[in-house]
Amino acid sequence: MYQYNFEKENCWYKDKCNKYNTNECNKNCIRYMTMDYLIGNSNIPKGKQFKQELRPEPVDIQNFKLLAEIKNDIINFVENGENLYIYSEKFGNGKTTWAIKIMQNYFNKIWLGNGFKVRGLFIHVPTFLTKFKEVMNKKDEEFEEMKNMLSDVDLVIWDDIATGKLSEYDHNNLLTYIDQRKLNRKSKYIYRKFK
Ligand SMILES: Nc1ncnc2c1ncn2[C@@H]1O[C@H](COP(=O)(O)OP(=O)(O)OP(=O)(O)O)[C@@H](O)[C@H]1O
Ligand SMILES: [Mg+2]
Repeated sequence: MYQYNFEKENCWYKDKCNKYNTNECNKNCIRYMTMDYLIGNSNIPKGKQFKQELRPEPVDIQNFKLLAEIKNDIINFVENGENLYIYSEKFGNGKTTWAIKIMQNYFNKIWLGNGFKVRGLFIHVPTFLTKFKEVMNKKDEEFEEMKNMLSDVDLVIWDDIATGKLSEYDHNNLLTYIDQRKLNRKSKYIYRKFK
């Protein structure tokens, strides 16, 4: 459950904002409040909500450039309902971190005038599919609400979508949500093959 909490030392803009640590740096800051809302409601894991530096391995330099271009052009990417799939044969080389960076940059660009509207969701697919089965017989309002938002938020990260072989049941469940986004011409997921 999201709860607003002002922590200026964790502000996303503290290095750039000329109001940082002045009297005006307080819980009423609309920019902080909106970013906190967008990120707090996105399901991005707590440990990944703040800036993370990535340095590419030589083999990934071209891919990092492309991802940076997408990140910078994320407004058009979303408006055009584009999709990106980040794949690698290696583990732990920044795929999830990139997806989150791109989403956070989207929030960065649309925060002004957003108010309280969820614009992006991070879904850890294996957890989502497990939860889906767990809650079948009982009501879980938070999960229901999240599922309802999946078809019309601007951007969804389907993290670890291809880590295991899906059963037909899981596959169908997932496709229901992805197809709904396709019908609504929404961005679905983020494609780039890493070496
Ligand atoms: N190129 C990099 N430079 C610096 N740190 C990195 C780099 N790649 C990954 N890391 C760090 O390694 C950790 C794992 O990164 P991340 O979760 O983004 O990888 P991943 O490719 O999604 O992994 P997996 O294959 O397990 O899904 C993070 O803490 C991240 O900051
Ligand atoms: Mg990952």
